[in-house]
Amino acid sequence: MCYFRRLDILRAKITAAAHYLPERRVTNLELQKTVDTSDDWIVERTGIRERRVAAKGQATSDLATEAAKSLLQKRGIDASEIDLIIVGTVTPDMFFPSTACLVQHKIGAKKAWGFDLSGACSGFIYALATGAQFISTGAHKKVLVIGADVMTSIIDFEDRATCVLFGDGAGAVLLEPAEPGEVGIMDSLLRSDGSGGEYLYMPAGGSLNPPSVETVQRKMHYVHQDGKNVFRYAVRGMADISAEILEKNSVPSSDIKLYIPHQANLRIIKAAVDRMKLNDAQVAVNIDRFANTTAGTIPICLSEAVEGGKIQKGDKVLLASFGAGWTWGSVLMQWEA
Ligand code: ACO
Repeated sequence: MCYFRRLDILRAKITAAAHYLPERRVTNLELQKTVDTSDDWIVERTGIRERRVAAKGQATSDLATEAAKSLLQKRGIDASEIDLIIVGTVTPDMFFPSTACLVQHKIGAKKAWGFDLSGACSGFIYALATGAQFISTGAHKKVLVIGADVMTSIIDFEDRATCVLFGDGAGAVLLEPAEPGEVGIMDSLLRSDGSGGEYLYMPAGGSLNPPSVETVQRKMHYVHQDGKNVFRYAVRGMADISAEILEKNSVPSSDIKLYIPHQANLRIIKAAVDRMKLNDAQVAVNIDRFANTTAGTIPICLSEAVEGGKIQKGDKVLLASFGAGWTWGSVLMQWEA
């Protein structure tokens, strides 16, 4: 009895969500002018109509900082109250210092420590589940979790197979302890399978292939992917992990107010939605406007849903992702903000 009361008190909940997208919009029609593609092909195969692109000199920490500042304003707290900052990203400003340290400095979160988490498209889900542990143990009271990427910094705009898929953006949430009687984050399932590494990766820039004239000439600092295999694994992985967490927690899909899947391809989303027998009103989709912002997609969708009044206190929300690694995961929560 005592054990359950303790668990209840130490659960984490999201108390605010915010996002930031760069101003510049690039439509499919614009891309059509520079690579051999078409608006029809991109919309039919991916669901993407346009994406946002960071301005020259605007790095991941800048996007993350804007999202974090908006979050602090929404929650009505000062940056000095933040204990920990976790940034999910595969496009850090630089290898070190971490993007989390840059954000900490830019928002003035003097008391916070922080780190970056490399989970590709699952970066936010991994970061959220990690941050929730620091709340659940009682170690921290306010954890800032950010998913942010400037994917256009690692995309070859001459490669039509990848350049149409991605965009830039950042989303942020604040984790705090749930009040007695509140539920908050109910469960998370997190998975990796390194055998998928060969299908989606950036070959150079790390210790394996340090930057050189040759790596630049061979375009090894860009995203390389086998789209068909990524698609195949993503369809199965995201649908499976979404269904599994519902079954594990005995939550019927009809109880889900909003399903927020990673936004990589509308057809991948539809496969998961069909598997769980959700209706359109239960699914958050913004891939048409923002494309795949990697760690940014889920918190951006969540923030838009909160702003649009699509989730209210007591609603069940399911998040799910699949990305390079392979990495995938799901988080089930009851909204308590
Ligand atoms: N415009 C026009 N034609 C294109 C384009 C383009 N932008 N890109 C590829 N094609 C061509 C291909 O070259 C191919 O031509 P070919 O048959 O002459 O060789 C043809 O279109 C069909 O290609 P497919 O690979 O069969 O197309 P598919 O239906 O699989 O769609 C896509 C391709 C959109 C890349 C899909 O495989 C996909 O979305 N994969 C997942 C990739 C992804 O989301 N990566 C992001 C990171 S991982 C994640 O977030 C889950």
